[in-house]
Amino acid sequence: MKAAILGFGTVGRGTYEALRDSKSGLTVKKVLDIYVPKGYEELVTTDFNDILFDSEITVVAECMGGLHPAYEYVTACLEKGKSVVSSNKYLICTYYRELTLLAERNGCLLRYTPAVGGGIPWLNNLKRIRRCDEILSFRGIVNGTTNYILDAMQTRSFPFADALRVAQELGYAESDPTSDLNGADARRKCAISANIAFDTILDEDDIPTFGIENITDRDIAAFRDMGLTARLIASAARTPEGISARVEPVLFEPSALEATIHINYNCITLFAERTGQLSLIGQGAGKDPTGCSLANDMLDAAYDTRREKHVFPEDIPPTDKRTVKERYYIRCSDDLGAFGFSSPDEGIYITGEMCLEDIHSLHDNLKDKSAFIASIDKEVSA
Ligand code: HSE
Repeated sequence: MKAAILGFGTVGRGTYEALRDSKSGLTVKKVLDIYVPKGYEELVTTDFNDILFDSEITVVAECMGGLHPAYEYVTACLEKGKSVVSSNKYLICTYYRELTLLAERNGCLLRYTPAVGGGIPWLNNLKRIRRCDEILSFRGIVNGTTNYILDAMQTRSFPFADALRVAQELGYAESDPTSDLNGADARRKCAISANIAFDTILDEDDIPTFGIENITDRDIAAFRDMGLTARLIASAARTPEGISARVEPVLFEPSALEATIHINYNCITLFAERTGQLSLIGQGAGKDPTGCSLANDMLDAAYDTRREKHVFPEDIPPTDKRTVKERYYIRCSDDLGAFGFSSPDEGIYITGEMCLEDIHSLHDNLKDKSAFIASIDKEVSA
């Protein structure tokens, strides 16, 4: 059987090598990229039509990143009846419903396991479990770059810029790391996971998000004084009002599972009615783990003949930003004395329990645009 790969960057190369070194019988016939690297002249084409109109190619892996032209290429392949696998969380998050239905209409498979958790088989297990269980909530570290940065700053005293540079050199960060740092990458992964867990269609812009772009050495010192460890967490829960989803740094006791997740690793935990608690841990970013996961999706698409129908419900649950409440750490130069928060040090405040709408409204009204906010894990005593 023959396959093609769109994009020969970090993930594309990892996927190509994983398949090349396997005994799977699935061969990569063509790779699309804007550059033809030396030694790959036979394999790499700059013309997408070489793949689209090659009837021998039945599975296409998209790992170009970004929305365009990835969207146009993926829809063209699905319309031609080629199965598509993708590591592109931006694409899957934005066009989840459309691409799911397009694949089904054309009798092909769409798989995107590495779009959340890199090398962790999170999404396919989430899909399996929810067939006969009810997912109540999930939470986890879903961005390898920010985990690498937070870990390096807290355990090895790296300055922020140095930690980011190393994460980029190791191939963890996006080509523009802004979406890693401001939480947008984690937010997309949160939306994709919530869509599968709760049978919904979340708009990524409707997930309140704090990133780590403003974190400073002062914050790291304050966490150390409090005996806590910061991690960037994406979480979502079904509440009586709808779906409560968020991305924010969270401060954990050192014994919490999330605090023990180091370097580029991710850790995602689900809580389900029958399954109870289940955590998956593994490398969340990087060429080989992500490439291997995408290669496995290609093999599923090439050899799996089952066709699962997805029935989207009539009434999609609304987002809920009021029910779930957390305590927050705020570091800012605004005077928050009037709020009655505790203040262990000048410019540092610990709030009482606040809902998402209130903490984000407080944040948006701060004059200090370099403020840093993290929620405090429920296990941390007041
Ligand atoms: N930039 C992403 C991360 C890559 O750091 O997690 C994997 O999605």
